Amino acid sequence: MAKPRVLIVGAGAMGMVTGYILHLAGAEVTFLVRPHRAEALNHPQTLYYYNDNSLKEFKEYVYLTDPSQILGNEYDFIVITLDGAALKCETGRSLVKTIGSAVRQSNSKRTGVILGTVFFNVRSWFLEVSGLPEDSVTLGWFTIRAYSPTAVTLPLHPPTDPEPLSKARIAWIDNLGDGFGVDDSAPRVANAFAKLYNSSGVSTCGITPTAQAGLYMNPIFAIYAACALLDWPRFTDIDTQGEIWRLAVAAAKEIQSLSIHGELGQHAAQSTTETSMAERFADIDAKLLPLDNRAFNRYHHGGKVNEQDTKHLRACVGFGKGEGKDMAALRELVRRVESVF
Ligand SMILES: NC(=O)c1ccc[n+]([C@@H]2O[C@H](COP(=O)([O-])OP(=O)(O)OC[C@H]3O[C@@H](n4cnc5c(N)ncnc54)[C@H](OP(=O)(O)O)[C@@H]3O)[C@@H](O)[C@H]2O)c1
Ligand SMILES: *[C@@H]1O[C@H](CO)[C@@H](O)[C@H](O)[C@H]1NC(C)=O
Repeated sequence: MAKPRVLIVGAGAMGMVTGYILHLAGAEVTFLVRPHRAEALNHPQTLYYYNDNSLKEFKEYVYLTDPSQILGNEYDFIVITLDGAALKCETGRSLVKTIGSAVRQSNSKRTGVILGTVFFNVRSWFLEVSGLPEDSVTLGWFTIRAYSPTAVTLPLHPPTDPEPLSKARIAWIDNLGDGFGVDDSAPRVANAFAKLYNSSGVSTCGITPTAQAGLYMNPIFAIYAACALLDWPRFTDIDTQGEIWRLAVAAAKEIQSLSIHGELGQHAAQSTTETSMAERFADIDAKLLPLDNRAFNRYHHGGKVNEQDTKHLRACVGFGKGEGKDMAALRELVRRVESVF
């Protein structure tokens, strides 16, 4: 049987680890990158895997540097790993149009798109810009944490081995259950992708109902905004009755209550408390050890994807206003974050 062909758009932390896992699953992996990334891809990739403290080498891929090169190619899956700010800018938009054309022009017309970008309601935006049909695009997300040890040094916790870690271009940990998730908005694509991903033997992909996935993900960024304002405290140390934490939890509840999250969202907003929210995040940090998730978040959400996160929160405000809601807590939270950064 021919190997499944996968195009990964973006070769950053998520793109590289996903590419490696899909390579282990037997896929033929192609990266689409911007020209300045090519040099780094000319050498084998060194990847540190926290789960077994060892360095992996990944060199079985090809790459393209011009989006027009995907036209005329057949892919089983296209996995998009750009962050929300990069995807929604002019270059990203034009890239999405090219992806739409490539899928429409392919002979099989069965290419499944996994949209791994974090952003409020991003799948609707993507369908509109790409012109692709509903049943070909599914939302995807990473529960893996991946970063470049050359960009940031995180505090070490046993049994992490600093020697191989220092040689890695990307490091990742996969210990929150399914390492990858997709929603069920395009069931054929979701099932086929999960099946391929699972056959990697090192990580699994779960399928979650759309409303539940959005409800889980969308409010998180209000909490990271509070963390930035509080200078990234431990969740176990947070004063849950402090003003900023209360504001952030109120903002998270406003997001949970958006109509897009259905009845499930109303229930979540009613049952979420300052304490339960802090506990949920403290629990994630504990599970992610030996990766220092607090330092990871400071680097990732406090810097690298900060623009994405803030724009996402603004989009939540816009959506809420569109349905006649005041969104007062979220607006105030965004105002404060933007006045600091
Ligand atoms: N890393 C994680 O652990 C993690 C976990 C959960 C969710 N996520 C989410 O996953 C998404 C990606 O995160 P990440 O950590 O992988 O970010 P990242 O390391 O910055 O990777 C994104 C990559 O996209 C590339 N890119 C941007 N514009 C492009 C374009 N027009 N064409 C081709 N490539 C382009 C960037 O390449 P250059 O800038 O080098 O050109 C960058 O390498 C974000 O939405 C993030 O919130 C990440
Ligand atoms: C992939 O593995 C996960 C975790 O074991 C499982 O829940 C899921 O049903 C599998 N999916 C497919 C399509 O095989």
